[in-house]
Amino acid sequence: GAPVTADISALEEGQRLILEWRGQPIWIVKRSKAILDALPTLDAQLRDPKSENKDQQPAYITGELRSIKPEISVLVGLCTHLGCSPEMKAEIRPEPFDPEWKGGYFCPCHKSRFDMAGRVFQGVPAPINLLVPPHHYENDTTIIIG
Ligand code: FES
Repeated sequence: GAPVTADISALEEGQRLILEWRGQPIWIVKRSKAILDALPTLDAQLRDPKSENKDQQPAYITGELRSIKPEISVLVGLCTHLGCSPEMKAEIRPEPFDPEWKGGYFCPCHKSRFDMAGRVFQGVPAPINLLVPPHHYENDTTIIIG
């Protein structure tokens, strides 16, 4: 499939842009500082907090944030269990879902949970983190997927 271009100049904190690339939904999410600060605190609850399974992202995506720019997360929006589309709950503590919730994605099909870097929690059916598609910045506000 051809690469897809995204203009993120109007993307605001907590917002998600959804594109399609190779028949898959691609999410581009602008994360708040509160969300970024919460990510490292979740590591002990995650299956692969450092995303060491290299099948989950391109080689240039490293670390807990799993992104090129800290605030901008780019993910394939399909659950790594059986491919349902997880729901985004980007705010901290959306009651009544979970008082410990620090923001993330929830798959309604079999209740897999992921954080705002797409990292999967322990004890859920999804085996690996959400995938990060190949992408790069053409300029400060333009992302090329593919
Ligand atoms: Fe997401 Fe099963 S498809 S938990």
